[in-house]
Amino acid sequence: MVKVLFVCLGNICRSPMAEAMFRDVVKREGLEGNIVVDSAGTGDWHIGQPPHEGTRTILKSNRIDFEGIKARQVESKDLEDFDYIIAMDSDNKRNIEKWKSAFPTAKIELLLDYVPHMKDKNVPDPYYTGNFQEVFDLLQQGCEKLLQHIKQNHDVK
Ligand code: 4NP
Repeated sequence: MVKVLFVCLGNICRSPMAEAMFRDVVKREGLEGNIVVDSAGTGDWHIGQPPHEGTRTILKSNRIDFEGIKARQVESKDLEDFDYIIAMDSDNKRNIEKWKSAFPTAKIELLLDYVPHMKDKNVPDPYYTGNFQEVFDLLQQGCEKLLQHIKQNHDVK
């Protein structure tokens, strides 16, 4: 079993969108018994809330299910529980790395590290930009490459 956790700031815009999209592609490839997907935020403002309306709208229009996704805050034990901690931007990544000394083997990366041609490795925050389409397009590329990487590096067939 490979466990993937997407992390952003509020866990209502980017990381739940990534969770739903990654779940969707994992399901389409018949790998749902092999890969666990979750998301969390470094902030606590939205705990228990469903994804932001902009995220819900773009997921609905692409027929991607987001049933059951509710915001939660990332915690140190996530570094032990998840094989891949995938942050949306370098601030989120830095925030989680504060626990790295307790869990030195944790893999903490940026999603766009998996997209080599992408110069800016940060997924912009649509809570501020309002551009959910831009985020959707970036996450689509990132999720595709991340799944390719997992399939090449783990026995998930
Ligand atoms: P997210 O966007 O990190 O992509 O979920 C945000 C959502 C809420 C806030 C900031 C960013 N906020 O400050 O409440």
